[in-house]
Amino acid sequence: MRIAILGGTGKEGSGLALRWAHAGHDLVIGSRERAKAERVAAELNAVLGRDAITGQENLRAVEQGEVAVLTVPYAAHAATLETVRKALAGKVLIDVTVPLDPANVRRVKLPPAGSAAVEAQQLLGPEVRVVAAFHNVSAEHLKRLGDPIDCDVLVCGDDRSAKEVVIGLAADAGMRAFDAGALANAAVPEGLTSVLININARFKIKDAGIRITGIPQSNS
Ligand SMILES: NC(=O)c1ccc[n+]([C@@H]2O[C@H](COP(=O)([O-])OP(=O)(O)OC[C@H]3O[C@@H](n4cnc5c(N)ncnc54)[C@H](OP(=O)(O)O)[C@@H]3O)[C@@H](O)[C@H]2O)c1
Repeated sequence: MRIAILGGTGKEGSGLALRWAHAGHDLVIGSRERAKAERVAAELNAVLGRDAITGQENLRAVEQGEVAVLTVPYAAHAATLETVRKALAGKVLIDVTVPLDPANVRRVKLPPAGSAAVEAQQLLGPEVRVVAAFHNVSAEHLKRLGDPIDCDVLVCGDDRSAKEVVIGLAADAGMRAFDAGALANAAVPEGLTSVLININARFKIKDAGIRITGIPQSNS
């Protein structure tokens, strides 16, 4: 699959790009600045040992991708979507954005719509199938390419087939993912990230994660 990552020059987007490229997907990482995207793509390809990742300006990246992923700080969430909204029509958008409050990232503070993902869906309209996922997966896990990822993924969205695509992509990247219900439920994984940031601080670590228990082995 050809996957476009908006803000793919950052920590989370670069980590996802590495994992998916390692699994055999074609990646195009987007940036506000094409030269920066190309530079980061070259660095990631050097880690991979082959050229599976290209860099583009965000809009061109979305145009080239079959699926788009959004990994930008919440402050840039709406503005970034505005720049690519027409190109997203008909596609699945995986929103990884966590609406952290810069004044206190350890305290849950969700936007008036309930979550960043619901805001994205409202902004983009029904032609884009927004799926919320990967909020609880630390970039620290993703960048350690050879290591298993000790974290599950909660996948929220209103379109079942779009969620199946995302669950498959999570598996390709080495993660167990669960359909966690409607897009409105994205409030929970988005908010949970502040809880994990608290735990990181308490234990002086960078990669606290979550696990779902009770699933029969045959279904996991
Ligand atoms: N880091 C993690 O461990 C982690 C884990 C789970 C979820 N998340 C979430 O994933 C998202 C990305 O996190 P991150 O740590 O990768 O962030 P980041 O490295 O700070 O930023 C990602 C990219 O967003 C773009 N960006 C930054 N500020 C911007 C602005 N004002 N306007 C437009 N674009 C801007 C930049 O790309 P260009 O300069 O190239 O345009 C940057 O490389 C966040 O919402 C975060 O909460 C992060």
